[in-house]
Amino acid sequence: MKVEDIKKISVVGAGNMGHQIAISAALAGYQVSVTDISSGMLSQAENFAKKYLPERVTKGKLSQDIAERTLANLKFTLSLEEAVSDADYVIEAAVEQLDVKRKLFTDIDRLAPSHAILATNSSFIVSSKVADATKRPDKVCNMHFFNPALVMKLVEVVQGPHTSDETAQVTVDLAEKMGKTPVWLKKEIYGFLVNRILAAITNEAVFLADMGIATPEEIDTAVTQALGHPMGPFRLMDLTGIDLVYDIGMERYQETRDPKDKPSPLIVEKYVKKEWGKKTGRGFYSYE
Ligand code: 3HC
Repeated sequence: MKVEDIKKISVVGAGNMGHQIAISAALAGYQVSVTDISSGMLSQAENFAKKYLPERVTKGKLSQDIAERTLANLKFTLSLEEAVSDADYVIEAAVEQLDVKRKLFTDIDRLAPSHAILATNSSFIVSSKVADATKRPDKVCNMHFFNPALVMKLVEVVQGPHTSDETAQVTVDLAEKMGKTPVWLKKEIYGFLVNRILAAITNEAVFLADMGIATPEEIDTAVTQALGHPMGPFRLMDLTGIDLVYDIGMERYQETRDPKDKPSPLIVEKYVKKEWGKKTGRGFYSYE
């Protein structure tokens, strides 16, 4: 397959990442079907697209024509079968739980056309953990976007030992067609590049807060003012979701059994209180 053969993309999971990946693909001219098991999540995604695209027109960042075409390119459905049955490329963006992803990959493999490439947008999990749940491991890889996916340019394309060169190349080309900057990793590593670097910063920030050395606000100020990051690690966790930070920690711990990998007390406290960041209205900061 070549990137030119891709006409229809399916995004499985309409949450924080999925809805923006879908709009990015539709903006690039692809027909996109978005699916989720939650009708609430799906209608939130649809409402976001209906609000975001006209706002871009008002801001002068998008023509009316392209906004209308993009909206017409987007379909939202609760049926996984309907979403993937004629897809050329499927991007899975569901929760960071390996058992959920493995089940999804088995289902998508059964329902999607045999030529379709199946990518996971997982933040940490390498695609070899899901490829063997399918009958097409050569067509499985990681295609990892960053939050907010409509803004952040980088896409990590991770080629596992099972992934064919063709699959990785098509994925790199697709990222470029979507206006992104792909980085192609030819060796799998848990967390890839960016999240490994980010985890080092975040773990240290949480450790300093847990020790009472500084507050999350002070640490965020230090990182933005001294290192020039657009957001400090706590505000960034609020953006990406503290539930995700928790899930990643738990998945990592399942893998390594190293207590250091378990989510820290501060993260567990926020997780239990459902203070997951922007998406729940409260995390380390409050949101109206
Ligand atoms: N969705 C879509 N677009 C958004 C957005 C959102 N949630 N937030 C901001 N934007 C857009 C705005 O519309 C604006 O677009 P324009 O310039 O074309 O009009 C642009 O971003 C700048 O927005 P603002 O001026 O309102 O705000 P900022 O300048 O503060 O930028 C930010 C917001 C882009 C989120 C910036 O703070 C930033 O880059 N933060 C760091 C984000 C980051 O590190 N992401 C990576 C996270 S790690 C990850 O995703 C890994 C994954 O596995 C979890």
